[in-house]
Order: sequence, then structure tokens, then C-alpha cells
Amino acid sequence: MRNAMHRRASKPSPQAPPKRRAARGEVYLVGAGPGDPDLLTVRAVKLMKRADVALYDSLISPGVLALLPARTERIYVGKQRANHTMRQEAINDLLVEYALAGRRVLRLKGGDPFVFGRGGEEIDTLSARGIRFEVVPGITAALGAAAYAGIPLTHRDHAQSCVFVTGHLKDGSVDLDWPALARPRQTIVVYMGLLSLPTICRKLIQYGLARDTGAAVVQQGTTQTQRVVTGTLGTLPARVAKAKLHAPTLIIVGNVVRLREKLNWFAPDGESAPPA
Ligand SMILES: C[S@@+](CC[C@H](N)C(=O)[O-])C[C@H]1O[C@@H](n2cnc3c(N)ncnc32)[C@H](O)[C@@H]1O
Repeated sequence: MRNAMHRRASKPSPQAPPKRRAARGEVYLVGAGPGDPDLLTVRAVKLMKRADVALYDSLISPGVLALLPARTERIYVGKQRANHTMRQEAINDLLVEYALAGRRVLRLKGGDPFVFGRGGEEIDTLSARGIRFEVVPGITAALGAAAYAGIPLTHRDHAQSCVFVTGHLKDGSVDLDWPALARPRQTIVVYMGLLSLPTICRKLIQYGLARDTGAAVVQQGTTQTQRVVTGTLGTLPARVAKAKLHAPTLIIVGNVVRLREKLNWFAPDGESAPPA
């Protein structure tokens, strides 16, 4: 259950308007990284300490939220697949309202705000209204999850390029540039692709990748509940279905995945440490 201090998103109510400051407020659009609070940047932590109000989404881990000062008002504006607590436009409007009321507003977003994060849309609205803002990059899920899974995204012997794509389109379909993805010596990282995993594997094989190309799914990367399922393009969908993984997950495709056998170093709670 969500902490009782966190209240559902609402507009500042007419009965209790946010306290007015003489100066105009400002917005900090901050990448909170993939989950492990130790992966926050120094700048992110500084701005978290300064914020009057924090708007955060479902990817923000409890460990990150715990770093907010007690005085900071917390507003959940989370978006999960098919369960949008708030529409993007409403979040944009809320940022504007709080800033115009003179508050220092922290907009905490999972990973990096500019990587599949709609951060650009949020600051576009602020810019149009003449509101001061700052953007703080965060460690995007691909980098965090790959590192904690022991899978280097590039490697001179296996992959010289790496692409990040989203496996979830607005209309729920998956329509990727398959010939561009199915290139040799390339690592593919798919965000939001769990439901499309069987299609993704099938299409990559159809467009020329070998069935035995390494592939993995990382669930809740960098956290103490991280789970990693590995296999090949041919075997991964069945293995993942059996493991009953759930979002957030990342798919990593490429022969770099095999390096995990040697490079796995991270042992989340409840898992025995990998062999030295
Ligand atoms: C809307 S995108 C936001 C991406 C975010 N801006 C970033 O840079 O990581 C949400 C997707 O990111 C991925 N994701 C975020 N955090 C993750 C984590 N800790 N482990 C695995 N995947 C994660 C999942 O694919 C999830 O569905």
C-alpha cells in the first residue's frame, strides 16, 4: 500500500491554495534512475532536498522517495500501462499551476526524463508559459539494468552498436524497423516490450537473426527485486512466460547476453551471490 503521506494527484484546491511566494516558482525535471537510490546523481539529490512539492510516477522506487524531506508534499501522478492515473496534459498543467503559485516543483521521472519519458512535452509546456526549469539527466533503465545484470551493451568481440527502441506503440501494436534491428554485431534494448516479446523474437528471426542469438529479460533492474531470465531468441518467450515476469522489464537481444555467465556480479536479496 502506498505511504499515507502520498496523496493522489489533485489540482491545488480552492479551499487550501498552495502558499504564495513573492517569486515565481520553478520546476526541476529530474531523472531518478532505474530504482537503486544510490544511482541518483548528486544534482538530483540536491534538488530533491530543495523541493516544496514532488510529482512522481510509478517507476520511482520507495528508496528514492524516502530521500525527500518530510516537509515536501508528495503527489502521485503515476502512469502504468492501461491504467493512467493522470493524463499527460493534466500533469503538464499541474506543473504550471504549482510553479505559478511560487512553489519549487520537483518532477521526478524514472530513468532519464528524455528517454521514452515524455520529458520534452512537459518542459515544452513550461517553456511556453515562461516558467523556469532545469533538467537533470538520470541513468536510463537500459544502462542500469544491463550493468546490474552483468551484460555489457557493447563489446569489441560481440557488438559494436546498440539501439534502444520501445516495444509499445500508442495503439498497443509493435511496429519496429525490423531490417534495421536485425543487424549482426548489434545489441537491441527494448523498453516496454514484455507483452510483445513473442512477436519481437519471431520478427527478429524472420528478418535474419539466428535463433540462437542470446536474449534476456530484466525485471525491476538495479533493485533488490531484480530478476533476470536469459535464453535465446528461440527459447526466451517460453522461459519468460514460465517465470511469470511482470513490468517494468527490459528485453536485451544480442550475443553480449552470454557474457552474463561470467560477468554476473549483483545478488539481490534472497539470491545467493554469483560464483566468484
Ligand atoms: C515509460 S518508459 C520510461 C523509461 C525511463 N525514462 C528511462 O529512461 O529508463 C518505462 C519503461 O522503462 C523500462 N524500465 C524502467 N525502469 C526499469 C527497471 N528498473 N528495470 C527494467 N525496466 C525498466 C521498462 O521497459 C518500462 O516499461
